[in-house]
Amino acid sequence: MSIISDDNDFKSAVREKKNPVIKPEAIEPDKNFENCIRPKTFDNYIGQSALKDTIKITIEAAKKREQPLDHLLFYGPPGLGKTTLAGVIAQEMGVDIKITSAPALERPRDIIGILMSLQGGEILFIDEIHRLNKVAEEILYPAMEDFYLDMTTGKSQTVKTLRVPLPKFTLIGATTKAGELSGPLRDRFGIIHRLEFYTESELSQVIRRTAGILNIEIDEKGARAIARRSRGTPRIANRLVKRVSDFAIVKYNGKINEDIANESLDILKIDEYGLDRTDRSLLKLIIEKYDGGPVGIETIAAAIGEDVRTIEDVCEPFLLQAGLLQRTPRGRKVSPETYRHLGYKFAPVGAQQTSLFDK
Ligand code: ADE
Repeated sequence: MSIISDDNDFKSAVREKKNPVIKPEAIEPDKNFENCIRPKTFDNYIGQSALKDTIKITIEAAKKREQPLDHLLFYGPPGLGKTTLAGVIAQEMGVDIKITSAPALERPRDIIGILMSLQGGEILFIDEIHRLNKVAEEILYPAMEDFYLDMTTGKSQTVKTLRVPLPKFTLIGATTKAGELSGPLRDRFGIIHRLEFYTESELSQVIRRTAGILNIEIDEKGARAIARRSRGTPRIANRLVKRVSDFAIVKYNGKINEDIANESLDILKIDEYGLDRTDRSLLKLIIEKYDGGPVGIETIAAAIGEDVRTIEDVCEPFLLQAGLLQRTPRGRKVSPETYRHLGYKFAPVGAQQTSLFDK
């Protein structure tokens, strides 16, 4: 079994191996950074407090009824902990979890195979569930609703429909694009939750927790400095703490403080908003070539050499939330704050939007 080092590696490993399921216990825990810092219980899971409170009640009620949990859908930008939360729920329910991703469920037999392998009460986690194909979706409907599979045998006139019962299970779906989920699929989830970006203080706690697990020395101001540039996203915060730690070990005594954090993040070209080169080139393109916009996403993608999906799923959610980018029917626009932040003097009159950071 290969060692999978983070969620994206994990997703591509699932895709490439054409093996739709990787059991979390099969991943060597102490060799895997993401896996060993992933919180396993609600007590260790920082942030998303309103969501945690609701889920705790749902879990308690399901346990009292001695029933599996209702199917859950989590949506929100990548890196906010949807997979982690599904793992925490499994742990708190005391059940196993099978993790897969919609692009790995290409053929009907992929989804049928997983459904038939489930044990009673188990959790099936499907990441990127908006990318599920129509056939897989239709197989899922009766499985989610009444816990059976509709199978057909024979050909044309001799075709027979077989109802195969399934054990009661819980489906947890995760998506960065709730709007792309079909209505019938969305309606079959009893509980739908949005994950929010983390505050600076929550990220600073995530960073200190991770540093503790990895034996990295960091003070409060050092953690805050990294948190500030982590785009509200724990996955980014955890990556940055490792990068800054490398820098602190090589250049200093290994201990991270505010100055060391800022110096190394400057070297990594992560600015005070947490923007990286791709974000900046996207925003600069809109300012320099399109007078602040609006400009179509395809034009932006072609000009900066990124694909549309990466821009939409990875770059944009934070830029929109931070008020640095706006989506309009005619394309993407920047705000006066974007001009200020990137050091441009002129901002066109139409570019008006308050920034998250003004508040
Ligand atoms: N690592 C990633 N997400 C986390 C979270 N929500 N709490 C603690 N550590 C994390």
